[in-house]
Amino acid sequence: MTNKKYTIVTYGCQMNEHDSEKISWILETMGYKWTDNKEESDFIIYNTCLVRENAELKVYGQLGALKDLKRKNPDLILAVCGCMMQQEEARDIILSKYKHVDIIFGTGNIHKLPQLISRYHQINRTVVDIVEDNREIVEDIEANRKYSFKAFVNIMYGCNNFCTYCIVPYTRGREKSRKPENIIKEIEDLAKKGYKEITLLGQNVNSYGKTLGYDYSFANLLEDVNKIEGIARIRFMTSHPKDLSDELIQSIAKLDKVCEHLHLPVQSGSNKVLKEMNRKYTKGDYLTLIEKIKNAVPDIAISTDIIVGFPGETEEDFNETLDLIKKVRYDSAFTFLYSVRKGTIAAKMENQVPDEIKHERFQRLLDTLYPIFYEENLKYADKIVEVLVEEVSKNNENVLTGRTRHGKLIHFEGSKELIGNLVNVKVEKIKSFTLEGSII
Ligand code: 5AD
Ligand code: SF4
Repeated sequence: MTNKKYTIVTYGCQMNEHDSEKISWILETMGYKWTDNKEESDFIIYNTCLVRENAELKVYGQLGALKDLKRKNPDLILAVCGCMMQQEEARDIILSKYKHVDIIFGTGNIHKLPQLISRYHQINRTVVDIVEDNREIVEDIEANRKYSFKAFVNIMYGCNNFCTYCIVPYTRGREKSRKPENIIKEIEDLAKKGYKEITLLGQNVNSYGKTLGYDYSFANLLEDVNKIEGIARIRFMTSHPKDLSDELIQSIAKLDKVCEHLHLPVQSGSNKVLKEMNRKYTKGDYLTLIEKIKNAVPDIAISTDIIVGFPGETEEDFNETLDLIKKVRYDSAFTFLYSVRKGTIAAKMENQVPDEIKHERFQRLLDTLYPIFYEENLKYADKIVEVLVEEVSKNNENVLTGRTRHGKLIHFEGSKELIGNLVNVKVEKIKSFTLEGSII
């Protein structure tokens, strides 16, 4: 195959971003080359998300817009994969209204893409391949990674928690941990290639190891990854508060490469809402955890996910969330308006919160969070921070951007040869979402 080009459009979380890096690797081993331009693509693939409604609607919009392109270029292959395709209803909509889509597959069978493409060529009509829950983890797909110095590494797949608002356990199946030796081997290979920062990915990394059949925890994994020469920074996402053990807190504190940043989604500060969400902790439990982690790692940066307007959320419940935010003093947060995800338990709850109340609370949530982000950033004024240089700023080619160990985005002047290196930067200016400084 010569000169075939592909485009991947990715929606959603880091898990999807990393899946797209794997799809890219598969397509490139088949001889395809990347292009940003859909007009010159021979293969366009949408890797979809179901967590937010607007991501879903965007996909339909984009697919509709591609009808013309497909008419002009009948050889163009159009594929849709990812979480949306795990849902029968979304598949049916594509099959009935977007008949120009050629290949549909799910989250558990990315490795089958070459077979699906040849099957499509054989039968010349839409190929659908979905596995509800992959029992075996497929190890032999590599990833064509976006960066050459920081990498996502899956440590587990799926989720067993069934938070009542969340579609992920239905789209990604039951929790399964990769074998530690496979993870370590992948990271050792990355270290040999010069990678410095690793983000360990899973829906609930704190429960890593439970499906292995022997005694090996996430804390053990962190210890083993910490030993890998060449790796300077270890991050991980996402931690569920119910599984954040004392052992893990101690590992975060003692392991030098584990960054001083914890993403610990709280979702709500109301005990009633937390119960309805099936989160299995109370506001008090969460605050105790925060106290423990701050005692163990005093300068730790804490980020979170918060949902506003979960069914039945009253003004009082919402005020509990605001109160919790003021107590924890987050460094950053992903904020969400609750949206009904069909198939989840919360979708059937009757006391849905009206949109205007959700929006009004959302604004108050941001008004509470933003000053705290700014005040927390003030701690870094005049400090010297270690930064992994990531890219040239989009607005100014003399300015570089990177991240500190605490996960703070920082801008500073420098030449692009520094990308991928660790540098020391003196912080000179503080904003709510970024820092500015100079290399020293
Ligand atoms: N509505 C709003 N936010 C949601 N999230 C997951 N499902 C929903 C939903 N139905 C948010 C949660 C989760 C993050 C990844 O997305 O906060 O932690
Ligand atoms: Fe969804 Fe809860 Fe699992 Fe996270 S822990 S993926 S929010 S069900």
